[in-house]
Amino acid sequence: MKPFSLLFLFSSLLLTASVQAQSQSAAITADKLAKINAVAAHAGVLYAATNNGLYQSQDQGKSWRPAVAPGLPATTVNTTADGKLYSFVVGQGLLALDSSSGQWKTVNNQFGSQVLMNLSVDDKASKQMAGLNQYGKIILSDNAGERWHGLRGPYRPGSEAEKRGQALFQKNCQTCHGIDGVGETYTLQALTDQKYLMAPALDASAHAWHHTDDALVKTILEGSSRPSRMPAWKDKGLSEQNARDLVAYMKSLWTQRELDCQGPKHMQCMK
Ligand code: HEC
Repeated sequence: MKPFSLLFLFSSLLLTASVQAQSQSAAITADKLAKINAVAAHAGVLYAATNNGLYQSQDQGKSWRPAVAPGLPATTVNTTADGKLYSFVVGQGLLALDSSSGQWKTVNNQFGSQVLMNLSVDDKASKQMAGLNQYGKIILSDNAGERWHGLRGPYRPGSEAEKRGQALFQKNCQTCHGIDGVGETYTLQALTDQKYLMAPALDASAHAWHHTDDALVKTILEGSSRPSRMPAWKDKGLSEQNARDLVAYMKSLWTQRELDCQGPKHMQCMK
């Protein structure tokens, strides 16, 4: 699924979301649930991950109430072999049910503009998790979901330029563009306010790689051509060398495919 089709999907539900938000705790019948993305049964309760959030039913699915604040899509809900329950809710991140308090707790919300569509936890090693994001890419966690990485393993910069770029990125860019350039996390404002431009992923998942190095350097130094929160970094003390180091770092987050297809060539590479 492309990021924009996901946005389109979300925006088509926001009308229902705002109506339902007014009566958060009122029970609804199964036919009033938004599109269901996943279901799970856990300790006698049914859970449905719907496009309007995570819902639960105590009466075998006749009536449903929000399990956490509704409004944004819940993309998955999964039980694990050791009896835990996880869900991914856009804007709230990966959640786990705390069985002692009955409350859902955030495990992590560092997914940027990635959404977890599916989750599996290793039955022999509960810290090992495998997930699928909306771009169809496998992401893995070795620490029970605290941090995620792609199949290549946790990110490590190679060259000196990449290391300098990473340090600059963590200091100046990460607040908007996410850890390891995964993009800005979806919020209700980002999905409802049409004028709100999200800070895109700068890794391989969005289309930073459609631009040449020079075009990326220009955007960094001069800001976006559209009115947005993306600053002109030359006015904030970054040099052209800094911008080139940042581009080196961004490109170290791409795979060979994006490197081979960068810039004008990207049209031929898209199927
Ligand atoms: C306050 C939030 C914010 C910060 C901090 C920020 N950006 Fe951005 N950035 C944005 C937004 C929003 C956009 C989208 C602008 C648009 O679409 O016109 C963007 C766009 C970009 C783009 C264009 C990507 C594309 O695919 O076209 C690049 C490259 C970029 N930023 C790099 C950086 C770098 C490097 C830094 C740190 C030096 C940084 N940004 C810091 C908000 C931010």
